[in-house]
Amino acid sequence: MVKDFAGQHLLSVQGLSREAVETVFSVADLMVPFAERRMVTRVLEGAILGNMFFEPSTRTRVSFGCAFNLLGGEVRETIGVESSSLAKGESLEDTARVLSGYSDVIVMRHPEGGAVDRFASASRVPVLNGGDGAREHPTQALLDLYTIRRERAALGLGLDGLRIALMGDLRYGRAVHSLVQILALYPAIEFHLISPPELALPEAYEDALRAGGHQVHRHHALASGLQAADIVYVTRTQEERFPSPEEAARYRGLFRLNQEIYTAHCAPNTVIMHPLPRDSRAGAQELDADLDAHPALAIFRQADNGVLIRMALFALCLDVVGALEKDVRPVRWYTGGRR
Ligand code: NCD
Repeated sequence: MVKDFAGQHLLSVQGLSREAVETVFSVADLMVPFAERRMVTRVLEGAILGNMFFEPSTRTRVSFGCAFNLLGGEVRETIGVESSSLAKGESLEDTARVLSGYSDVIVMRHPEGGAVDRFASASRVPVLNGGDGAREHPTQALLDLYTIRRERAALGLGLDGLRIALMGDLRYGRAVHSLVQILALYPAIEFHLISPPELALPEAYEDALRAGGHQVHRHHALASGLQAADIVYVTRTQEERFPSPEEAARYRGLFRLNQEIYTAHCAPNTVIMHPLPRDSRAGAQELDADLDAHPALAIFRQADNGVLIRMALFALCLDVVGALEKDVRPVRWYTGGRR
């Protein structure tokens, strides 16, 4: 999706300009009254979203669906390869030819990097990438950056010169792959990459960051990486992408952020983020629940922002931003418990 969003796919963050990102954010701001259930709009009345998730998902799938519903559209879901005709040997391209006849826009998550691009090449309607293998997760990156901006604004700060620590599985984490590229649109970002050597950020991403004039520091120990950060972005070991469960198990619980470590190594007010889900099983706990009451823990604000960003993307892609102001009314139901 480039400058002119209408009818465009969003497959990667590559090709997004800073101006385009800012457009998404300003439309996301317009969505707050709807997401907070103060106002109702029906600008997408009659439109259908094909929400196709061929990998586990809670937030991404449900927030895409709710975002479409909040704009007045209907959602049809396909979940799991085993319940679709892909299990009968149908190609992604044929599935795309058929399903794009039933939908106005499609969101797809797939375990294979590049599969969503292939699907999009045969689709007659715009396709938004909900995560393709270890490759990219562009809407997560947009909601992460939107969250970073809001968290920084609350402290009276902007994005330029931001210092961010990304910790955990930087090799297989598609959210990280998209986030570093989108952050690089802003000047002089300082990246602190904290991971075991085997789970380091793939070199191509690192090279691109350096080529863009950003500072990149690799750390194999937690303490040194956390010290210099304004934001710490924690990630889960992407077990499902490892060649074997035994290999993934070697990295479980290796890097953890908890209250004790935060107090010892992070500057006060260091914002804590995580794309979620966090692995709360014993032995993993990369982000401990003992930080849950900390005001700098932004993970649930981050998840809430996902609805705003996805509403904005649908409104831009289906070209209804201009129609919003003519199609607004107050909600009729009880909403007092929400806030
Ligand atoms: C992420 C994903 O699926 O890539 N989750 C999400 O969409 N919020 C991160 C993860 O699964 O660890």
